[in-house]
Amino acid sequence: MATRRKLIVGNWKMNGRLTSGLNLAKEIANRAIESMPLEFDVALCPPATLLWPISEALMGSPVMLGAQDCHYANHGAYTGDISAGMLADLGCRYVILGHSERRAAYEETGALIAKKVAAAQLAGLVTIVCVGETLEQRATGTTETAIVQQLSSSLPEKFHSSQLVVAYEPVWAIGSGDVPETDEVSSIHRLIRRSLGAMGEAVQVIYGGSVVPHNARDLLEQHEIDGVLVGGASLNSDGFWSIAEKAR
Ligand code: 13P
Repeated sequence: MATRRKLIVGNWKMNGRLTSGLNLAKEIANRAIESMPLEFDVALCPPATLLWPISEALMGSPVMLGAQDCHYANHGAYTGDISAGMLADLGCRYVILGHSERRAAYEETGALIAKKVAAAQLAGLVTIVCVGETLEQRATGTTETAIVQQLSSSLPEKFHSSQLVVAYEPVWAIGSGDVPETDEVSSIHRLIRRSLGAMGEAVQVIYGGSVVPHNARDLLEQHEIDGVLVGGASLNSDGFWSIAEKAR
């Protein structure tokens, strides 16, 4: 049976200013240094404005840096955008792609996300590709079809499984306080692995959606759940670290 390390990722979304963001990152870096060697991986994905100062603040700690999106082109006339190469240049190891908030607000399609995944992997980043069903899909029993379709359309024809993490984030669970049963999560994670074919066993599949300290242990104890992608609860160092420690 494949042994996969657990991965705890904080997605700060559009939160954090220079002082508050740096303080939060430093607090988490210090916790991680005190707990070294870490038996699990930790990454912070602050907004783009904070990537460089936080990259510096994390140096010497085992906490890794990630971004929340990137463009598919390497450089060029794309006002307001940031390329994967630029993120790698700042010390990013991860990039979140296809988050449901971006799929919904910017109408990001699977085809666009697949181009971003290809570009990010080429730049050496590990891509955290998000998939998840809406409440309506859940109600109509089409969750599994939706997940498989989203995943296959969001991956380029060629990709490195060693640079892929899949985040299962049910849209209805994000920011709502509602979390599916751990059995349900495990079964979707198995489905995701099966749909990746031979490489599925080696790929980390993590869960996101209303993860908080009191439900993290149940989730992280499951063999099929290789980590968590934490939104709101990652904005507080005590809360985030208490989630991370459940991965021991
Ligand atoms: P919450 O943890 O706030 O529900 O957000 C989850 C999420 O969207 C992480 O990417």
